[in-house]
Parts: sequence; C-alpha cells; structure tokens
Amino acid sequence: MFITIEGIDGSGKSTQAIRLSRWLEDFTGRRTISTFEPGGWDGGKSLREFILGSKGYSALSELLLFLADRSEHVSRVILPALTEGHNVICERYNDSTLAYQSGGHKLKISDAERLIAACNFPEPDIKIFLDIDPETAYSRITSRTPDKFEAEGLLLMRKVSDFYHSRADEYMIIDCNNLNEEEVFTAITSKLEVCICQSR
Ligand code: TMP
Repeated sequence: MFITIEGIDGSGKSTQAIRLSRWLEDFTGRRTISTFEPGGWDGGKSLREFILGSKGYSALSELLLFLADRSEHVSRVILPALTEGHNVICERYNDSTLAYQSGGHKLKISDAERLIAACNFPEPDIKIFLDIDPETAYSRITSRTPDKFEAEGLLLMRKVSDFYHSRADEYMIIDCNNLNEEEVFTAITSKLEVCICQSR
C-alpha cells in the first residue's frame, strides 16, 4: 500500500506517520517504509534545506523544485519499496504541491496539475488529510524556528487549509480538532482497518 499523509504545518503528521508505520507493518505483515517530502532520500537533505531556506522564488519555481525533489524520492525510495512489495507511508506528496503552490501561492491550478501529471509519479492508494484549525496548528509551530512557509504565518495556513477542504472528497479526513495524539491515532487506524479489509 502507498499511503500519503497531508495537512497544514503543525497538524501532527510526523508523529502520526511514525506510529502508523509500526501499526501498518503489524496489521499487514509487510515491511513498511516511512518517508517524507521534501528531502526524504539519500542526499535529499541539502535540497530540502535549499528549498525551505530560499526566498523570492516564484510559485512556479517552487513547484519545479518540489517536483525535482519528488522525482529523486520516487525513483530512489518509493518505487523500489513498492516494487519489493513493501508498504510506503509518505508525509506530503503531490497534494502538498497543489495546496501550497496553487492554494497558497496562487500558481494556476491547471498548470500545476499538468506539470505534476507529466511526471507520472505513482498514485497513492489512500491519502490521509489531518484536518485541524489553522489557529490551533499555528499556536503549535510558533515555538520552533520557522521554515520559509511557516514564516508566512496564519494567512498561508488558512489558504492551504481551504484548498485541502475544497478537495475533501479525495481524502480520508481525520478531524483532529479537540483530539489528543492517541485519539487521532485511533481515528486513523479505525478508518484504515475498514479500508484495508474492504480492499482484500
Ligand atoms: P514539512 O515541514 O512538513 O516537512 O514540509 C516543509 C514545508 O514545505 C511545508 O511548509 C510545506 C512545504 N511544501 C510545499 O510547499 N510544497 C510541496 O510540494 C511540499 C512537499 C512541501
């Protein structure tokens, strides 16, 4: 299975991805690779730092940088793992590019979709959207050093959140508002169990 986890910054993706990969490995009996974008491949750290540290690039340039990162990530990590029959859990993927570069930074959606489609990246089986109020998420991230997207603050988070909501029917949505980490995990695994059993 190829599962992506999406959401605004501060929605708890990393915490849930780690727990979920252990759970999925037990539940399916298959090795599960947990990875992330940008930069989740050998050598990807420097590209991640460049993308998240660079200022003044157009939304189109941002998209092209994220696609370059994804191209290496897909060919070096995701596809080999799927080909070996492993599960892959990936924090952020194509939907982050649409939500941030189009929803947030106003790159024309049809252009972003065409460029992403031209890359022929594998489609996830399930896309999880951790839904949380931008205000709550923002209060969680103010204690860490912000990357360039986080530094844009609440305004960007609201636009990105609105974009995910505009495509709500594409996701397995987990309403994380007023839930603690354990409750979010239980909400995800209950829905996934049903999904996986139905697909067998
Ligand atoms: P992360 O902190 O969740 O790893 O993501 C880094 C930032 O990069 C986050 O603010 C979202 C942003 N981003 C995009 O703008 N477009 C993309 O395609 C991806 C993968 C991330």
